[in-house]
Amino acid sequence: MPEGLQLGVNVDHVATLRQARGTIYPDPVLAASLAELAGADQITVHLREDRRHIQDRDVTILRQTVQVPLNLEMAATAEMVRIAVREKPDTVTLVPEKREERTTEGGLDVVGQEAALRPVIAALRDAGIIVSLFIDPDPAQVAKSAELGAHTVELHTGDYCEATTALLRAERLEHLRAAAEQAHNLSLRVAAGHGLHYKNVQEVAQLPYMVELNIGHAIMARAVLVGLERAVREMIDAMRLA
Ligand code: PXP
Repeated sequence: MPEGLQLGVNVDHVATLRQARGTIYPDPVLAASLAELAGADQITVHLREDRRHIQDRDVTILRQTVQVPLNLEMAATAEMVRIAVREKPDTVTLVPEKREERTTEGGLDVVGQEAALRPVIAALRDAGIIVSLFIDPDPAQVAKSAELGAHTVELHTGDYCEATTALLRAERLEHLRAAAEQAHNLSLRVAAGHGLHYKNVQEVAQLPYMVELNIGHAIMARAVLVGLERAVREMIDAMRLA
């Protein structure tokens, strides 16, 4: 692994499983602690406006329990800014949000939403929060992110991850490489995420100036499978107690 590259573990989908049944388990707070014990450098959660997975209570308790940096992904709305300023995550990553989407689609349009984003970024900065913008690897978006005072850009790797041919994949990796270089030259920290899994993570990890990857779905999907055998054995043991 390139020296200095950090892993942010996104625990949203532990909450997805909990919300599917309205139970109190599995608790993303416990998952965050386990991820931390396993070496996660950061815990990431996305408090969506529709509260489909992470709940307000999760953010409050995570703020009290997580010892590595806590990264709160959120839309740039007044409600979310209030929550962020109150909870004081180490970092806020501003993401676009559409209610009907299955997951975050595309990066934030920093160029098009400059007027709305400027005061949000300023308010978060004034609260002592590191501001990261989740953007497509597009030169205009990178330049505007620096101009608006972001500390970090998280480059959206979704298009790269979804490339169906080697040529497209190489092209999209080149966009990420160029954006990383441009961001670094503008004194922005460079992060990346979305759609990364065990097979496609290496090329992104090797990009120049990359200091942080935020990964959720692939880790949780694998946890279900690698943990299943033990979970079944434990249920059989519980039944034997009858
Ligand atoms: N980074 C950002 C900004 C995201 O919105 C997401 C998805 O919530 C991720 C990283 C993690 O994506 P994935 O779950 O596909 O690993």
